Amino acid sequence: MRSLSEEQKTRLRDYLSERKTLVDSRLREHFSPMEGPAALISRAMTYSLFAGGKRLRPVLCMASASVVGGREEDVLPVACALECIHTYSLIHDDLPAMDDDDLRRGKPTSHKVFGEAIALLAGDGLLTEAFRLMSDISLLERRSVPVLLEVIRTIAEAAGSRGMVGGQVADVLCEGKVVDFPVVEYIHHHKTGALIRASVLAGALLGGGSRQQVDVLGRYGEKIGLAFQISDDILDIEGDKKAMGKATGSDDRKGKATYPALLGLAQAKDIQAKLVEEAVDLLEQFGDRAEPLRLIARYIIERKK
Ligand code: IPE
Ligand code: IPE
Ligand code: MG
Ligand code: MG
Ligand code: MG
Repeated sequence: MRSLSEEQKTRLRDYLSERKTLVDSRLREHFSPMEGPAALISRAMTYSLFAGGKRLRPVLCMASASVVGGREEDVLPVACALECIHTYSLIHDDLPAMDDDDLRRGKPTSHKVFGEAIALLAGDGLLTEAFRLMSDISLLERRSVPVLLEVIRTIAEAAGSRGMVGGQVADVLCEGKVVDFPVVEYIHHHKTGALIRASVLAGALLGGGSRQQVDVLGRYGEKIGLAFQISDDILDIEGDKKAMGKATGSDDRKGKATYPALLGLAQAKDIQAKLVEEAVDLLEQFGDRAEPLRLIARYIIERKK
């Protein structure tokens, strides 16, 4: 597995930070502070949203739009919606009833600051705002109604019980149990892989990609989505709490179904590297244009947070 050169790392850092700035400023516009009796919900939503996430899903959506010839700015409402769904999933994932974590994105978790009721509602609010963002009228300027509906359906399926929610259900039910490989694979594909794949698919659809291009990019997204959760499992063992801004060692403590727990670290790393290679190979038809997607795939293995 070829690792990223220093020059590639710098290029990727700049690439990610430029797009993060665009996403953050659109999110700031969308989540302007509320007033009145429910003002606290807007504070709770923005607390988690701006706590310092990597913005991987929105960046993937933008990069995927661009690889098929679309304009990154045009997909921003959907890219931001993906980040809202992801952030909601983290707030709920950290609740005492789920993973019971105190630290997220380098800050105390939502329920630690606002209490469980408001944390639940902040998640609900972010999920719902995502659908408001995805119905942004500006999207109609570039794409037809059937394409926009396909984008919304793809993201809804990936986020709901057929996707991320289903994965979280299996994750919780399997805690402390001995599970076999197909179950761990199911959990990872669903709890994390589905939304990452949907981010790439949404970008490809909004960017005007052909059916063939959308299919290939969907397969790329599926592979890096699975690799991303495997690397999350590996970082839970080998990573640095301060760099990641969340607890380490917690999967083992809770008896979570993870790749390293089932297969050992070495085999988990081999599988992850193979998935990334396969993902990169899928991008061949896009030539130089796919460089950001290639760098992102490789970054998944090398990331420290
Ligand atoms: C963490 O996601 C939870 C998983 C789905 C593995 P990220 O590692 O993308 O978290 P942020 O958004 O950067 O905080
Ligand atoms: C989280 O998986 C997946 C979702 C939030 C959907 P983890 O529980 O492993 O994520 P972290 O490690 O808490 O970020
Ligand atoms: Mg979890
Ligand atoms: Mg967790
Ligand atoms: Mg984890």
